Amino acid sequence: QGPEAVSPTGSPTGAPANSRAQSGQYLTTAQGLRLGDTDHSLKAGPRGPILLQDHHLREKITHFDHERIPERVVHARGAGAHGTFRSYGTASKITKAGFLAPDVETPVFVRFSTVLGSRGSADTVRDTRGFSTKFYTDEGTYDLVGNNIPVFFIQDGIKFPDLIHAGKPHPDREIPQAQSAHDTFWDFVSLHTEAQAHTMWNMSDRGIPRSYRTMEGFGVHTFRLVDAAGKTTLVKFHWKPKLGVHSLVWEEAQIINGMDPDFHRRDLADAIESGAYPEWELGIQTFPDTEDQMFEGIDLLDPTKFVPEELAPVQPIGLMTLNANPTNYFAETEQVAFHPGHLVPGIDVTNDPLLQVRLFSYLDTQISRLGGPNFAQIPINRPHAPVNDMLRDGMHQTAVHGGVAPYHPNSLDGGCPFMAGQDVGAFVDVPEEIAAGIKERRNPASFDDHFSQARLFFRSLTSVEQDHVIQAYTFELGKCYEAVIRERQLMALANIDAGLCAAVAKGLGMPAPTATVDTQDVEPSPAVSQIGGKWPVA
Ligand code: HEM
Repeated sequence: QGPEAVSPTGSPTGAPANSRAQSGQYLTTAQGLRLGDTDHSLKAGPRGPILLQDHHLREKITHFDHERIPERVVHARGAGAHGTFRSYGTASKITKAGFLAPDVETPVFVRFSTVLGSRGSADTVRDTRGFSTKFYTDEGTYDLVGNNIPVFFIQDGIKFPDLIHAGKPHPDREIPQAQSAHDTFWDFVSLHTEAQAHTMWNMSDRGIPRSYRTMEGFGVHTFRLVDAAGKTTLVKFHWKPKLGVHSLVWEEAQIINGMDPDFHRRDLADAIESGAYPEWELGIQTFPDTEDQMFEGIDLLDPTKFVPEELAPVQPIGLMTLNANPTNYFAETEQVAFHPGHLVPGIDVTNDPLLQVRLFSYLDTQISRLGGPNFAQIPINRPHAPVNDMLRDGMHQTAVHGGVAPYHPNSLDGGCPFMAGQDVGAFVDVPEEIAAGIKERRNPASFDDHFSQARLFFRSLTSVEQDHVIQAYTFELGKCYEAVIRERQLMALANIDAGLCAAVAKGLGMPAPTATVDTQDVEPSPAVSQIGGKWPVA
């Protein structure tokens, strides 16, 4: 992007240490003027008023006044780390992505996050966790922007602002954060019953991870892999922690929130500093790319559904090791910009209506969060592949572009030789036949079932885990002021599992309603989780 690769961080992303910050022997102004005194402002006499002519004071205070940038609208609180991803090559049968070829090592930057809390909130709240990975591949940057829960609250991205408005603090009192004590959150998920499956995962032990190092990660949506011949395969991405999946219990989480609100970021940084590098295997579930994009009755375009591993085993395709902490939190963890649309040849998107909206939202929000359209030039966001675009000028432009003809084709700057043979090694969108239909605002009927996967998950838990779920619902709903919201949520629980509903209703001192849907489709309470425990050894 720019004439030189400069990192302010000296970080292990491969970029050299920066020459523009902290060089030279002396303290200077931003203009390089050597300073003699930075502790006293220029005054008219020792007791006098401060003079407007004090250019050093004005520069220092003005810069400080503008040190903060807006926090992310969601996932504001996070912790990051550098590392590497080594591919096993097992995916190269179904994708031409170069970084998934056998034994290729790719630098990565990972950011873990909570979703709803502000930048200064506590780590061990009950919430979903973000799990974003930036792969700096030779073919451009690939981002896998996932969560630690395999399903999402909503099926169509148009509801995302509503979901987040319901989950963020009440507009009048600015309390509380996360899913605790929240009339608006429970109002939303009981009215939008598609959110029940994700909410069930939040109420389970998965909502309070022990450590970022012991979290699974999920791409959630179905993606499309493409091989060199153009053949496509649908996949879901999974990260499996080598340390296993571990959670806190609620009482531990509460105490830690009080005693060490930075528990998760401290744990990650300490582990890496001491050489206990956390590792995850990346795996894929694969599905034939059929016309209906269904698998065993599950609509693969519905992001509120997961595919149980019994039906489609997760196949390991590589190993990620996080081995270096950021040098500067702001430069790296705060300024990193992930985007589900950062793709490489061999990986493409699907028509999942949640994913489609995400493809618009991330770039859009980053233009305001990172001060204009040039944030790809910020060191942590710079691709490790050559960049030769026709994007010009704009706020915070640091590249000095040559040439006079930033358009294609042209006859002045060599006609754009980099476009020659454009299909070779280039990203080419998968040609996909679009089923013509009526233009309308409606979901397919295959999105209608909102309860069976919440039921499947609940009944897959051990009895101890189920007790935790019951306690979590009872605690959280007990904090709702409005009885009508508690009643509506109990109705949703009745449609998931009568035993769960009865136990929560008892805890709330309310009558348990009767289900309005058939709840006998899943065997009650098998002892072992459907999700974990089935991981094949690589
Ligand atoms: C962050 C929008 C769904 C995972 C963000 C940000 C926005 C956003 C605006 C802030 C980005 C930034 O400032 O850099 C949306 C919309 C969604 C959606 C509109 C639905 C239509 C999801 C889903 C997942 C997810 C389904 C998980 C699969 C994340 C993560 C981050 C994030 C992990 C934090 C990235 C980081 O660490 O910087 N999202 N999101 N989001 N989102 Fe989403």
